[in-house]
Amino acid sequence: MGAEADGGEKQLKFLIYGRTGWIGGFLGKLCEERGIQYEYGSGRLENRLSLEADITAVKPSHVFNAAGVTGRPNVDWCESHKAETIRTNVVGTLTLADVCRQNNLILINYATGCIFEYDSSHTLGSGHGFKEDDTPNFTGSFYSKTKAMVEDLLENYDNVCTLRVRMPISSDLTNPRNFITKITRYDKVVDIPNSMSILDELLPISLEMAKRNLTGIWNFTNPGVVSHNEILEMYRDYVDPSFRWKNFTLEEQAKVIVAPRSNNELDASKLKKEFPHLLSIKDSLLKYVFHPNHHNPALLQPS
Ligand SMILES: NC(=O)c1ccc[n+]([C@@H]2O[C@H](COP(=O)([O-])OP(=O)(O)OC[C@H]3O[C@@H](n4cnc5c(N)ncnc54)[C@H](OP(=O)(O)O)[C@@H]3O)[C@@H](O)[C@H]2O)c1
Repeated sequence: MGAEADGGEKQLKFLIYGRTGWIGGFLGKLCEERGIQYEYGSGRLENRLSLEADITAVKPSHVFNAAGVTGRPNVDWCESHKAETIRTNVVGTLTLADVCRQNNLILINYATGCIFEYDSSHTLGSGHGFKEDDTPNFTGSFYSKTKAMVEDLLENYDNVCTLRVRMPISSDLTNPRNFITKITRYDKVVDIPNSMSILDELLPISLEMAKRNLTGIWNFTNPGVVSHNEILEMYRDYVDPSFRWKNFTLEEQAKVIVAPRSNNELDASKLKKEFPHLLSIKDSLLKYVFHPNHHNPALLQPS
């Protein structure tokens, strides 16, 4: 399936969904930098005929799904737009997986790790993270509940590579979707250790996963956890020495959001075994985010 061919690697050509999105846009740039042929899909995920037309036109070696609804301004949107959430994230994602399977294509699917929360056997600070075969235990938000349902169904598709992304971070600190940018702009933040995904390090790895024709579920986070305050301390130390913030408790946070948020540690040892150079979350933050941004005066906030 995918890129195997006689005597070597068939010409790679990636078909990517999510052209206007954060992860989808990033993937296109990475393909350009690496000289990998790619095209963006023009179909809508829930429209099977439009996906089939894309595959016929592009003739891809692999398909990447970075399309989905995450809600604007945030995931609370999904609580009041349930049918729209189902249309793209459930019907759409399953349709794309099914069309890819019928066309003998691997689908790299950017999913979410926000389907777990710390529990009595995976306690905060224990270093005992959820593994790929653990059953999701967080259904507090409609977004997460439906993502977990889809992950469960996609396990039956042997052509799908499910990447559990969490609290994605990139070196672009001007992007409002960046977890760091988000928490620097909040009035108050909770302080809880979590698994997170440094996109500058992990998205190139996902391209490599396609080349290796990897499938199945993968915790797609850097090993270890980092807390909100640890990130904000780095931000203060490397980007803006005058930055200050206020913390509040989970109970106080619950009053300003509609749906509960997941907090968890994912066990990234499967990914680390496949990619031994994968950095721990704190080392990756320093290497990919804070060191390159250290001398960038454009990022300093006006005093
Ligand atoms: N950002 C996060 O915090 C986060 C965390 C974990 C996992 N993820 C997952 O990663 C994926 C990508 O996230 P992102 O942050 O890059 O999202 P994003 O910036 O909101 O982009 C979403 C993309 O999906 C496209 N899209 C939405 N509905 C579609 C449909 N029915 N058919 C085709 N395209 C559609 C959008 O295109 P249009 O503008 O044309 O609709 C847009 O290009 C999502 O599935 C998300 O759940 C994100």
